[in-house]
Amino acid sequence: MKILVTGGAGYIGSHTCVELLNSGFEAVVVDNLSNSKTESISRVEKITGKNITFVQGDVRDRECLQTVFKAHDITAVIHFAGLKAVGESCEQPLSYYDNNVYGSIVLAQEMEKANIKKLVFSSSATVYGDPEKLPLTEDMPLSTTNPYGTSKLMVENIYRDLEVADKLKDSNSPWAISLLRYFNPVGAHESGLIGEDPNGIPNNLMPYISQVAVGKLQQLSVFGSDYPTIDGTGVRDYIHVVDLAKGHVKAVQAMLGGLSGVNAINLGTGNGLSVLQLVKAFEEQNEKPVPFKMVARRSGDVAACYADAKKAKALLDWQAELDVNAMVKDSWHWQSKNPNGYE
Ligand code: NAD
Ligand code: UFG
Repeated sequence: MKILVTGGAGYIGSHTCVELLNSGFEAVVVDNLSNSKTESISRVEKITGKNITFVQGDVRDRECLQTVFKAHDITAVIHFAGLKAVGESCEQPLSYYDNNVYGSIVLAQEMEKANIKKLVFSSSATVYGDPEKLPLTEDMPLSTTNPYGTSKLMVENIYRDLEVADKLKDSNSPWAISLLRYFNPVGAHESGLIGEDPNGIPNNLMPYISQVAVGKLQQLSVFGSDYPTIDGTGVRDYIHVVDLAKGHVKAVQAMLGGLSGVNAINLGTGNGLSVLQLVKAFEEQNEKPVPFKMVARRSGDVAACYADAKKAKALLDWQAELDVNAMVKDSWHWQSKNPNGYE
């Protein structure tokens, strides 16, 4: 069974390709390589001993999608392709709406024409805005604070409208759409062959910690020490990327098994960890010091954010299995083996 993976050369996409291939699926990847390299695909092939069909293309390019749908009998699509930097989205909102929203519309239109109606979409916990209550359940109010987050929420709404309209037509092949809301993906494949390869100075905590530990960056700035949390630093639900990748395979399998309609589902562990707890776990597990200093809060950050992960268990029979020690160990293994990423 063939799955189209848009953005499959990227961080989460490459790990998902490994899990798809290991579960007996075939993968066709469409990626424009705007934030990745084909080396990640070669390494997925090395890990799994299986081949991937790679197409360098853009999800906004209809002809490219039409060609792929004609050449391959695609059963379902996992849609990762998009831009993901919050700060950049504030500077270049149109580029974010173009890639993330327009790209998701073109993809759904071409899927509909090809009668492929099973779709997994990469959403984000950012759609919960500044949480009123924790842990976050999928039915809580949604809001966003930046164009990146807005683009994710817009696509969720567009896909909901699409499914409602399709149901009214009483079509005999209903849409099945999983809106997977990721919490904070970290870690890497245990082989150390694939991992996160951010451009320039990382915005996110885990790659920043790893680059300090490997000596590329001098010290970590901890953004805020006066949050109402266990130690004053921000709390997040870090989830191992391999667990996250398995969640995508489970979503495809659930839809093949009859899960239909639109389902928003949190993919998190359900546990919150502070910045300092993550730093400490990294230092202890890897026996590597991570010098840090406390600085002011980063604008737009929330104090704490973690998932209620029960819906994923109920609908997908999925739950996170890897703990924080595996997350920091595998992040470091990838970073130390590939100090300059895929270069
Ligand atoms: P990534 O940048 O590593 O992967 C995205 C891939 O999509 C890249 O390979 C990029 O080249 C490709 N791409 C971008 N625009 C494209 C386009 N128009 N057409 C074809 N390919 C395109 O990012 P990631 O961390 O793997 O994230 C994957 C998805 O998950 C994204 O949609 C992101 O918004 C979402 N997400 C990520 C996180 C996170 O913290 N990493 C959290 C929540 C949601
Ligand atoms: N942090 C630091 N120093 C750093 C980087 C981060 O102290 O150098 C702190 C942040 O203040 C926050 C925590 O580490 O408390 C996590 O920050 P990240 O940037 O790693 O992750 P965020 O939770 O801010 O953002 C992530 C994704 C976004 C997504 C959001 C909500 O990067 O794309 O989760 O899902 F929108």
